[in-house]
Amino acid sequence: MNAPHRTWRLARLESLLDFSLALAGPRGEAEVVEELVQRAVGLLDAARGVAVAVSPALEPVRTANVAWPLALPAAAHFLTAPELNRLRGGEPVRLRGGVAGLVFDELLAAACLWRDELFGVVAVADKEARGGRASFDEEDATLLRSLALLAAPAIASARELEEARRRRELLEEENRTLRAEVTGEEGLIGESAAMRTVLERVLRVAPTDVTVLLRGESGTGKERVARLLHSLSARASGPFVALNCAAVPETLLEAELFGIERGVATGVAARVGKLELANGGTLFLDEVGDLSPALQAKLLRVVQEREVERVGGRQTVRVDVRLVTATNRDLEAMLASGEFRSDLYYRLRVVEITLPPLRQRREDIPLLAHHFVQRHARKLGKGPVALTRSALEVLLRHDFPGNVRELENLLEAVVALSQDNRLSADDVQLALGATRQAAVASDRLEDVVRSHVLQTLARCHGQRSRAARELGIDRTTLYRMLMRWNATSDADRNNAAPTARRKRSDRTWRP
Ligand SMILES: Nc1ncnc2c1ncn2[C@@H]1O[C@H](COP(=O)(O)OP(=O)(O)OP(=O)(O)O)[C@@H](O)[C@H]1O
Ligand SMILES: [Mg+2]
Repeated sequence: MNAPHRTWRLARLESLLDFSLALAGPRGEAEVVEELVQRAVGLLDAARGVAVAVSPALEPVRTANVAWPLALPAAAHFLTAPELNRLRGGEPVRLRGGVAGLVFDELLAAACLWRDELFGVVAVADKEARGGRASFDEEDATLLRSLALLAAPAIASARELEEARRRRELLEEENRTLRAEVTGEEGLIGESAAMRTVLERVLRVAPTDVTVLLRGESGTGKERVARLLHSLSARASGPFVALNCAAVPETLLEAELFGIERGVATGVAARVGKLELANGGTLFLDEVGDLSPALQAKLLRVVQEREVERVGGRQTVRVDVRLVTATNRDLEAMLASGEFRSDLYYRLRVVEITLPPLRQRREDIPLLAHHFVQRHARKLGKGPVALTRSALEVLLRHDFPGNVRELENLLEAVVALSQDNRLSADDVQLALGATRQAAVASDRLEDVVRSHVLQTLARCHGQRSRAARELGIDRTTLYRMLMRWNATSDADRNNAAPTARRKRSDRTWRP
C-alpha cells in the first residue's frame, strides 16, 4: 500500500470513528438520519443524498436529504424489489440514469442493517471530482456501507428510547389520572404529611388484590378509603358491597353475610349473602371487631378457602371477593383477651392503613373546609360562598372529636344558616354551639340553632350582650338573627320564647 493511499484510508477510518462517536450519545431518530446523510454526502463527495429510516413495513419514518428533489422518498420509491433484496443482503446497490422522476448519472445506496433487520437506506448521487463528474468506486461503496451499518443500531436505540419515553409518559399520565381520582370529589382531600402517606399507600395497594384493614377513629374516612381501594382496582367495574357488623343484630348477621337457604326456619325465604353479592368486587366489612367468635371462625374459612356456605346450605359457593375491613377497636387488646381470633387478625391485616384523626392534621382543615363549603353551597343552590379568615380561625381552634364527618356536618349547617355568601366566625360559632347540642338532620338545622340561641337568651334573662358573649358571637349578629326570626315567623313566638322576666330595655329581646 502506497503512502498517499494509507493516509487516505486513515482519514476514512477517522471519519468513521468520528461518526460513531457522534452517534454514541442518546439521539433521536431524526438526528441520526440527518447526521448520516450529511456524513455520506460529505465523505463521498456526492452532489446530493438522502437517508430514510423505515418502519418494519418499509414505510418511511424519518428522512433527511442534501439537495434531494423528492419530498418523501420511500426506499421502495427509488429501489425495485430485487435491488431492495440485495440491499437487505448487505450489498450496496449502484444505479445509473435516474429513477422515479429523479435524474442522476450514478446512485449508490446502502442499507442500515442491524440484527438482520432493515432500519433504513442511505443513498448518494453523482460524485463530484475536480469540477467534473466521477464514478463512485469500491472504496466509496464500502465507506457508505460502513456508515449505514453504524447508523442502524443508533436508529434502533433511538426507537427504544422513544418507546421507553412514550411508555413513561403513559404511566405518568395514568398516575396523574389516578391521583386526580384519589384527591377528587370521591377521593381523599388532605395535603398533610400524614394524609400523603395514606394516599401513597392507597395508590400502591389499590391495584393489588390484597386484604386491607383500615383503622382510625370515627369519621376519619375509613369507608371513603375502602371505596377508593375498590374504584382504583381492577375490580372497579364489579360491585362494592358494604356491611356494618355493628349495625346488624347478631342473630341476623350470619344470614346477612353468608346468605341463607329457603326453609331453614318456617317461613324463611332464601337470601343471597353480602359475600356472594360482592362476587367479582369488593366487600367492605365495617366494625369487624364486633364479629362474634362463631362468625369470626366462619369468616376465616371464607378468607382461607374463598368459599361461602349459606346458612342451612349443604353446598359451598365459590366467591371471588376482595376483602377490606375496618375497625376503631383495639384489636390487639381483643387478641390478648381472646375476644378476637389471631388467625383471622393476621389474615385481615395483610396491609394496614391507619387514618389519622383530624386534630393531628389541622393543616388539612382549610382545604377540607373549602371543599365542603363549596359542595354544600352547590347542593343548596347557593352561589359561590367563601369562609372568612376569622371563620377559618374558629375552625382551626376546634378539636373535632367527630373528625372529618363533624367538620362536614358543621359546615353544612353553616352554609345552610348563613344569609350571606361570606361565612363569618359568628356563623361558625353558632353552628358549633348548635351541633354540640344535638346530632342534627340538616333540614332541621336552623331550628336547632334557633332553639340554641333562644335558650341561651332565656338563660341570660333576655340580655343580648350576655347571650352573644355566651354564644361566642358578635352582638350585632345576634341582633340580626333575632330580627330575622322575629320577622319571618309568627309561629315561633309560641315556641322557644324566653320565659324569664323581661326588662323593657332595648338591650333585651322581646318575642
Ligand atoms: N379525606 C377526606 N376528604 C373528603 N371527605 C372525607 C375525607 N375523610 C372523610 N370524609 C368524609 O367524611 C365523612 C366520614 O367519612 P367515613 O364515613 O369514610 O368515615 P369512617 O372512618 O368510616 O367513620 P365511622 O368509623 O364512623 O364509620 C364522609 O362523608 C366522608 O365522605
Ligand atoms: Mg364507616
